[in-house]
Amino acid sequence: MFKRFRRLRLNEKLRELVTETVITKNDFIYPLFVRSGEGIKNEISSMPGVYQMSIDEILKECEELKSLGLYSIILFGIPDVKDSIGSDALSEEGIIARTLRAIKEAHPDMFVVTDLCFCEYTDHGHCGILDMKHKTVNNDATLEILGKQAVIHAKAGSDMIAPSGMMDGMIEAIREALDDEGFENLPIMSYSTKFASAYYGPFRDVAESAPSFGDRRSYQMNPANRREAILESLEDEFEGADILMVKPALAYLDIIRDIRENTKLPLAVYNVSGEYSMLQAAKRAKVIDYERVMMETMIGFKRAGADIIISYHAKEVAKLLDKC
Ligand code: PBG
Ligand code: ZN
Repeated sequence: MFKRFRRLRLNEKLRELVTETVITKNDFIYPLFVRSGEGIKNEISSMPGVYQMSIDEILKECEELKSLGLYSIILFGIPDVKDSIGSDALSEEGIIARTLRAIKEAHPDMFVVTDLCFCEYTDHGHCGILDMKHKTVNNDATLEILGKQAVIHAKAGSDMIAPSGMMDGMIEAIREALDDEGFENLPIMSYSTKFASAYYGPFRDVAESAPSFGDRRSYQMNPANRREAILESLEDEFEGADILMVKPALAYLDIIRDIRENTKLPLAVYNVSGEYSMLQAAKRAKVIDYERVMMETMIGFKRAGADIIISYHAKEVAKLLDKC
């Protein structure tokens, strides 16, 4: 009698040779939160290891990131003054523009992505200009100022624009605004499939960007809808996005795979604040092997189809990779 069951005959060396998914430092973009002032480095209580920093501290942080082999960051700004249209984001003296110029001067070898949205800059905390009558975001008025914000970032030295507001037509509008100003070669990474998620909670503490009324469900996606999630990303590809994104990551691994299989563009995932905070809380409670769970999570993102991982864990991962 022949036994017909199959198994792979892998010894230890062979197991290494056939490993399908590997994590490297080049997979990561590390988020940084900047505010004005000097010598400011405020830790966020729900996100141990994550800080609001002034520009001088951001420059030191870049030095440390480079020493760990991390060269890519995404910037979020916390303005001194918020108003109804997010003026700080539209000024060359705004927090992001100033930070970009400082980083580019001190660290020209950093790859600096800039998050493009208005929720951090408006006093009502929504992602664009409000339509007062309906108390919702006015999509088309917002497209116009998104274009302006993108050009401000471009002129200040951004290496990639990452619009995160999920407005309809935003990629086309931003692409056109950039091209008109001579930035035809500046890439756009779209938050193309962004769900209305409770996992953004801690971020809104750091960025001080919780909406003062209502929620973002009119422009962010319903977590229940898979086909719509794919369509949204494909729409941004059609409008000219260079990189697509799924956000959050952990509860949406199927969507990452779905989009991976429906596009040839590179795909990023955003391992968001709430996902980071959960692991940190479990670590503090000593209920998991934190480092192993973290690496397993990162492998999961890549195995699902991610090329880029935006993660607050990036520094810890880099340190761990240096150890082994
Ligand atoms: C801004 C933006 C948000 C995040 C990234 N860009 C917040 C939001 O949509 O409310 C969330 C990131 C995180 O939770 O880590 N539009
Ligand atoms: Zn927003």
